[in-house]
Amino acid sequence: MRTMLIFDPEGRFSGTLGDSLDTSDRYHCVETFSEAQQVLRDFPCQVGLVVFDSRSDGLLRDVESLVNSSSITEWIAIVPSDALRSANFQSLLLASFYDYHTLPLDVPRLAVTVGHAFGKASLRQSVVNSQGEASSRFGICGESPVMQAFFQQLERVVDAELTVLLGGETGTGKELVAKAIHGYSSRSRGPFVAVNCAAIPENLIQAELFGYEKGAFSGATQRKIGSIEAANNGVLFLDEVGDFPLGLQANLLRALQERAIIRVGSVTPIPVDFRVIAATHIDLLEAVKAGKFREDLYYRLNVLHLSLPPLRDRGDDILLLAKTILHNLAGAYRRTRVAGFTREAIGAMNNYKWPGNVRELKNRIHRAVILSEGRLINAHDLGFDREHQATETAVTLVDARTRLDREIVENCLRANANNVSKTARQLGISRVTLYRMLNKYSIATSA
Ligand SMILES: Nc1ncnc2c1ncn2[C@@H]1O[C@H](COP(=O)(O)OP(=O)(O)OP(=O)(O)O)[C@@H](O)[C@H]1O
Ligand SMILES: [Mg+2]
Repeated sequence: MRTMLIFDPEGRFSGTLGDSLDTSDRYHCVETFSEAQQVLRDFPCQVGLVVFDSRSDGLLRDVESLVNSSSITEWIAIVPSDALRSANFQSLLLASFYDYHTLPLDVPRLAVTVGHAFGKASLRQSVVNSQGEASSRFGICGESPVMQAFFQQLERVVDAELTVLLGGETGTGKELVAKAIHGYSSRSRGPFVAVNCAAIPENLIQAELFGYEKGAFSGATQRKIGSIEAANNGVLFLDEVGDFPLGLQANLLRALQERAIIRVGSVTPIPVDFRVIAATHIDLLEAVKAGKFREDLYYRLNVLHLSLPPLRDRGDDILLLAKTILHNLAGAYRRTRVAGFTREAIGAMNNYKWPGNVRELKNRIHRAVILSEGRLINAHDLGFDREHQATETAVTLVDARTRLDREIVENCLRANANNVSKTARQLGISRVTLYRMLNKYSIATSA
């Protein structure tokens, strides 16, 4: 059904505009901002008409929030010609509107524009639908032969109730897959508890995993439930398990074998019903050979093994992922004009080796959306021409990632005139995380 919202704050057309246009199956004509919001919440409106008056500046904020609230609507503005002189108004029109018409109204012309806007909205919807259906399984994007093979294995693993070891280079989607296994399995109603074994200091990991009783050590003023116990009836995700301290591996092995834990400061075993998914980007067998990982623990974890292919081996998935990421970002930044990639950018993405895999692709596109000045993202926006060689020959992957992270944070901060709150919101991280990164990369908050 073709549904249109007409937001006419001054009631200039007293509800008659929808009838005279005769382009939609249904229209809702409203005069207040809150009514307009309500209509957008209740009905999928493919087209929105906003009638501005000469006090347009006063309306801008409301209209901006309205257009940002619906990703499926194509917006058309009806404006008095003098309003077009305001710079704020111009930028809103350019960023968020499909078209505009100046008063006095030429109804037949407006009807043609509205018809086109409905066409564009339906085109957008069909692209989204076809991408959504064909290209992702378990919420994981991919159509390439290597990913099809991966999905087949994943299908068998999901409900097997056995321990899974996930391998794959950094940024290939191990955590995403772990969450998918949990979300699609019979344990989905139970908790998903993630423990990053690399991030917890060695002296805290035992208390973190097993919990402790009050008074177990100085500072233990309250009983604490550990991560394993918290995962009861659900899934325990042991991320970066290769970094698990050697001295504590025997305790972990015991908990896995006996399906029970003993809190620090207690002697009573507590049975726990949990499934383990472990992830590692290093070769655990090598770690076993090097004496850094217990062999018995390795075999206890490596019951079902899944390995995520690197992005460079996923062929057309690179572009598929790039488009999906861009589409999702465009939904978040409704005002962006960016609609796709230049051929040169596509070529550059296909030729690149992607050491940081999907995470790096996401970061590069995120940066490009912020920096791009055109409708299409080019190779330069993706940071290729300048940085390509440097990244390829980077001493380590960590160096390359650090450089990219630093650049994204700095550019976004500058694009937001050094406003930390706005920058954090745009990057999708908390202010605390942003401050930590600013500190780590020595980025000043004033230019
Ligand atoms: N196939 C995919 N489809 C959509 N998004 C993906 C896909 N693979 C990875 N991602 C996204 O890429 C980012 C990195 O994925 P994830 O954190 O799962 O990687 P990882 O293998 O755990 O990396 P690391 O080894 O560095 O911890 C996440 O934002 C994730 O949502
Ligand atoms: Mg991870």
